[in-house]
Amino acid sequence: MKLKEKVAIITGAGQGIGREYARRLAKEGAHVIVADLNMDKAIQVANEIKELNLKASAIQVDVSNEQSTIDMAKQIEKQYGKIDILINNAAIFSTIKMKKMEEISGGEWDSVLDVNLKGIFLCCKAVVPIMKKQNYGRIINISSAAVYLGRPDYIHYVASKAGVLGFTGALSREIGEFNITVNSITPGPTYTEIPRETVSEIQKKELLKIQSIKKLQEPSDLSGVVVFLCTDDASFITGQTFNVDGGMTV
Ligand code: NAI
Repeated sequence: MKLKEKVAIITGAGQGIGREYARRLAKEGAHVIVADLNMDKAIQVANEIKELNLKASAIQVDVSNEQSTIDMAKQIEKQYGKIDILINNAAIFSTIKMKKMEEISGGEWDSVLDVNLKGIFLCCKAVVPIMKKQNYGRIINISSAAVYLGRPDYIHYVASKAGVLGFTGALSREIGEFNITVNSITPGPTYTEIPRETVSEIQKKELLKIQSIKKLQEPSDLSGVVVFLCTDDASFITGQTFNVDGGMTV
């Protein structure tokens, strides 16, 4: 158990990859807070984890709403006395519509940037003061390999995820003195229980050609790296990005 007694928030953990992060951190002994806009799904994932005799609870949050992130952080601090780990995983992703740049409205651009980039800023802003008081924290921001591939047809998404990398480096400099590390990972296309528009069956075959490891990526291929970054073994790693993509972006 590498994360015994740690309190960990995982945003967007009501489904998909976040659900796997929550399960994996719980298996390592953390009390995981499944934080999602969709409270029914968050409760379902927390219950799945509790059925394994592991520790979890659910909380509703809209990461793009400042008051909602403040309320989340306050409630967790009040209930558990601390917040050790923040995994900023929530994003508009599986529901995104693939479109050319000229077809993306200003409103669509704003909503993707509001959740995927501003949402990370707001969650950090709410949680970092608590981590500073503890003189301890681990923050992991989920970006995407799409940043390096220049993937067309969802440039608002790609732009939001590129912003996450700049944010990670800059924040790591600001809060390193408080023993808080901030890192990001860039997963390659990862197959979850949620179908999505962004990768077709043909693209799946193409992916295997460009990945060094000839297997479609699954959430469990990512969660070990996230756990590692939360452990004391990674205490001297900060401001870094880990490409976890089967060698696609070499
Ligand atoms: P998903 O779309 O299946 O799940 C996203 C979760 O975020 C959902 O539970 C949703 O309810 C929640 N969410 C959306 N807006 C929210 C808000 N305003 N506040 C709180 N929660 C909100 O995504 P998936 O596939 O699980 O991806 C997880 C993360 O990994 C995302 O950051 C995504 O961009 C990133 N990623 C995913 C890849 C993939 O191929 N699945 C590849 C690279 C990165």
